[in-house]
Amino acid sequence: MSTEQEQTITPHVPVNDPSSEPVSGKTKVEGAQIGGLFEAISKGRPVESVVYPDGATEDAVLEIDDFNLWYGDAKALHNTTFAAAKGKVTALIGPSGCGKSTLLRSVNRMNDLIDSVRIEGQMRLNGDPVYGKSVDVIELRKRIGMVFQKPNPFPMSIFENVIYSLRIDGVRNKSTLEEICEQSLRGAGLWDEAKDRLKESALRLSGGQQQRLCIARAIAAEPEVLLLDEPCSALDPIATGRIEDLIEDLKGTYSILIVTHNMQQASRVSDNTAFMYLGRLVEYGPTEQIFLSPKLKETEDYVTGRFG
Ligand SMILES: Nc1ncnc2c1ncn2[C@@H]1O[C@H](COP(=O)(O)OP(=O)(O)OP(=O)(O)O)[C@@H](O)[C@H]1O
Ligand SMILES: [Mg+2]
Repeated sequence: MSTEQEQTITPHVPVNDPSSEPVSGKTKVEGAQIGGLFEAISKGRPVESVVYPDGATEDAVLEIDDFNLWYGDAKALHNTTFAAAKGKVTALIGPSGCGKSTLLRSVNRMNDLIDSVRIEGQMRLNGDPVYGKSVDVIELRKRIGMVFQKPNPFPMSIFENVIYSLRIDGVRNKSTLEEICEQSLRGAGLWDEAKDRLKESALRLSGGQQQRLCIARAIAAEPEVLLLDEPCSALDPIATGRIEDLIEDLKGTYSILIVTHNMQQASRVSDNTAFMYLGRLVEYGPTEQIFLSPKLKETEDYVTGRFG
C-alpha cells in the first residue's frame, strides 16, 4: 500500500489538539495508542472514515455525500459519505444508538415527519437528488421500499396487502393485479404457503410469514432500493434463515440496505458492510475484508464481539 493511500484511510484528529496528534500509518496499532478512535469520537473530535476504494462503487444505487442530521441540538449523523452498490447487499452495523435507523430513514425522507430534524448534505438515488426543493417526496418514496423490525401487515387480506401500491396507483386490471401478486409472493418465498389463503386476513399469518409478506408488498412496487431495518430481530432461527435465503435470491434484481445486530447475518448476506459508531461512519468496505481483516482495531473489536 502506498503512503498516499495510507494517509487517506487514517482516522483524523485535529492537529491543534495537543492530546491527540494526528494518527499516521497503519491504524490498527497507532489508533489504540492514542486511546482509540472511539474515545476521539466520544470527545467529539472529527474523524475521517476509512472507506476502501473498491467499497465505493462506480455503479452506485445510492450515494451518500457528506450527510449530517440533527434531532434538535443533538447531532445524530456526522459527515457520512459512502455509496451503496447497485444489485448488492449493503449491511449497516454498529452499537445501539449509532444512527443506523436514522441513516436508513433519511434515504426515504421518513425523518421529514419529525419536526426537530435538520439535515445538511445530499444523497442521490440512481443519480437523482433525494433532498432539495425540486424533489417530489411522494414520488421519491415510491422508488424505495422499507421493511421494519416488526412486521406491519395492513389489516386487510394477503392479496390486498401485496398489491397495495398498485391500488394506490389506480391499477384495476384484475389479471395484472393477480399476476403481480403471485410474482411478488413467489419473489418473497411465500407463494406456496399463501396461495390458498389470499383472501384471508394478513394478520392471521405467523410473524415470519408476515415479514415475508411485507417484503412481497415492498417488491410489488418494484423499488430501486430496499431498506431493511433489523428485519429478522423478531423472528426465530428458521424464519430468519428463510429471510436470509430470500435476501440472497433478491440480490442482483434489487439493491438492498440492511441494518442488523447479528454479525453472522451481516457476514452471510451482505457484499459490503458499513460500521458506524456514535453517528460516524467508521469503516466501510467489502464484507469479507471488514470481518476478516479490517483496517481498524475498533472495527475488529466490534465484529469479533470484544466491544458493544
Ligand atoms: N425521533 C427522535 N428524536 C430525537 N432523537 C432521536 C430520534 N430518533 C433517534 N434519535 C437519536 O438518534 C440517535 C441514533 O438513533 P437511531 O435510532 O438511528 O440508532 P440505531 O443505530 O438505529 O440504534 P438501534 O440499534 O438501537 O436501533 C440516538 O441517540 C437516538 O436517541
Ligand atoms: Mg435502529
